[in-house]
Amino acid sequence: MSQPADFNDRMLSLGLARVAEQAAIASADWVGRGDEKAADQAAVNAMREQLNLLEIAGVVVIGEGERDEAPMLYIGEEVGTGTGPGVDIALDPLEGTTLTAKDMPNALCVIAMGPRGSMLHAPDVYMEKLAIGPGFAPDTVTLDMSPSERVAALAKAKGATPRDITCCVLERPRHEEMLAELRSTGCGIRLITDGDVAGVMHCAEPGVTGIDMYMGSGGAPEGVLAAAALKCMGGQIYGKLLFRNEDEIGRARKAGIEDLDRVYTRDEMVTKDVIFAATGVTSGSLLPGLKREVGWITTETLLMRSKTGSVRRMTYRNPV
Ligand code: FBP
Repeated sequence: MSQPADFNDRMLSLGLARVAEQAAIASADWVGRGDEKAADQAAVNAMREQLNLLEIAGVVVIGEGERDEAPMLYIGEEVGTGTGPGVDIALDPLEGTTLTAKDMPNALCVIAMGPRGSMLHAPDVYMEKLAIGPGFAPDTVTLDMSPSERVAALAKAKGATPRDITCCVLERPRHEEMLAELRSTGCGIRLITDGDVAGVMHCAEPGVTGIDMYMGSGGAPEGVLAAAALKCMGGQIYGKLLFRNEDEIGRARKAGIEDLDRVYTRDEMVTKDVIFAATGVTSGSLLPGLKREVGWITTETLLMRSKTGSVRRMTYRNPV
């Protein structure tokens, strides 16, 4: 029987949730075991195995790295049975390997899928990111603004004061200056040690997470995944690639990026409708982590479609 050529997001979404669920279940034995690499490898193996069961002609555009450094789920790897629609896949089998190894909050298994050509082929470099949730006019905050100007602008748009705003920032020495300026505004700051996909997603549900804005630099691949999530949940994200040397510039050129100074909006990073699934590995403000009982593992997955704006929370009790 011939396969549909179209990207049928409705039909494909449940399959995508299964991929994220199985990656999370595979990492269960490694939560709190102090071994980042083993945790990541378990999630990678399971994600690849599950992806290859899907009736898609998939290509990994955001993956585990370049072909010469990642044996599986590398950028350009073809996944799926090869018999269905042509799709782009962005994935991070375990976003927050250290969080998992240390059993700290917000480790996730994440994956997004869209039609071919729907996602920016971001090289593995850093990206300067700025994100807010839904309901604000475009450019309410921008990368051109200083951190304190962003806080003032968002507070004004919310009819609030800077003290009512909470920003989420990766705790890194490179962010010290930005943090000092944010402190001077009186805003709240939630420091995270890893996991900026979750950090950005938190902005989409400020009432639940307490986070209004995300800013700072982190992985560019994670920036595209976060853009896919916000395209489904609502909210804005801006990203600008950061290059530390010629090798990184070469990676960008190889990925087809010509304008190295470009600021990408959410819809420039993810240009067509996508589906996005994230399963909690360790508990966080958005998703509970894996729950283990004798004979069972229970997961919770966020499954979202940008075309409809639908957000499903799926609980899966799996015998082990
Ligand atoms: P891993 O899961 O690969 O360890 O990445 C975690 C992460 O915190 C990302 O969420 C973030 O984008 C990136 O690392 C930040 O990089 P760095 O640790 O170099 O600041």
